[in-house]
Amino acid sequence: MPLRSYSKQNAVDAIIKKKKYPITEIAIAQAPVNIALIKYWGKRNEELHLPANDSLSIALDLKTTTILSQASKEDEILLNGVALSENNPFYERTAAFLSLFRPSSNFFFRVETKNEVPTAAGLASSASGFAALVLALNQFLGWEASTQDLSILARLGSGSAARSLFSGFVRWHKGKLDKGEDSYGIHLPDTLSELHFGVLLNATESKKISSNKAMLQTKETSPIYKTWTNQAHLDLATLLRSIEEKNIPLLGQTAERNSLFMHATMQTAWPSICYWNEKTIVALQNVWKAREQGLTVFCTMDAGPNVKLLYPKKEEKSVLALFPSLWCIPLLWE
Ligand code: PMV
Repeated sequence: MPLRSYSKQNAVDAIIKKKKYPITEIAIAQAPVNIALIKYWGKRNEELHLPANDSLSIALDLKTTTILSQASKEDEILLNGVALSENNPFYERTAAFLSLFRPSSNFFFRVETKNEVPTAAGLASSASGFAALVLALNQFLGWEASTQDLSILARLGSGSAARSLFSGFVRWHKGKLDKGEDSYGIHLPDTLSELHFGVLLNATESKKISSNKAMLQTKETSPIYKTWTNQAHLDLATLLRSIEEKNIPLLGQTAERNSLFMHATMQTAWPSICYWNEKTIVALQNVWKAREQGLTVFCTMDAGPNVKLLYPKKEEKSVLALFPSLWCIPLLWE
């Protein structure tokens, strides 16, 4: 079979050899939100969500819970207690993903998803969502799949979901193989409990352009995209070193520069993409000003206007004095 036609279904069939009927009436699973310190931005394979660069994240003690059961006539998808209509983008995406696993064409799922964070606000709720869904499917359909395989399956839903199966620091390998069997998340055993995290919630509405679309536009049109993949590779090595040395300033500086570089690639795409709003820029300038005044605080931003702060525990009081609206979220180490 020519590789170009290697589909998500082929990738699923390579892991789940035989379609299965539920072995239980209901399955419940949870997965944490992850925030990338080295970002995933751009794919080497669009269909299979194979990334152009390795990325590295931390898990937050903030989860998506998914309850899975069987529905009678059509898929029923509820997001935070609200039943979604068939033309809702989240419904469409979830139902298309579920179709990869239906035991028969007239089998339907009921999925109840609860997020502890606003959906699609650049807080990676799709990552924890697809990871929780894959964990629930694993229970519901009795796959007994390995975490590595579950990470691959979650990746087919949303790339960054490959990292949401784990606590702590997680590295998602871009892999080299065409079919992506070597592209999954790996939990890194180091912990850094001195590292603290908070979010400046600058907006909670859904993003105007999906990260999938924005990545492709960036890759195809930004003149600095090639430099991004090279720099992300170097940044990853520096970040791994900062974890090993438990060096929060080096970790923060590397994560902030990596995030700014990612945003530079999309801002130099054509048409240009900018997820920031006025509050994002004010927050960024306040972080830089705080550092000039001697505070150890760094930031990172994803596909949304929110600014996430990284700082050592001992600075929390001073950080909160400067950013009183900061939502401090504990990191999840195990
Ligand atoms: O997995 P996606 O398609 O939602 O893309 C995630 C992209 C970023 O959040 C901006 C970066 C990352 O590595 O999480």
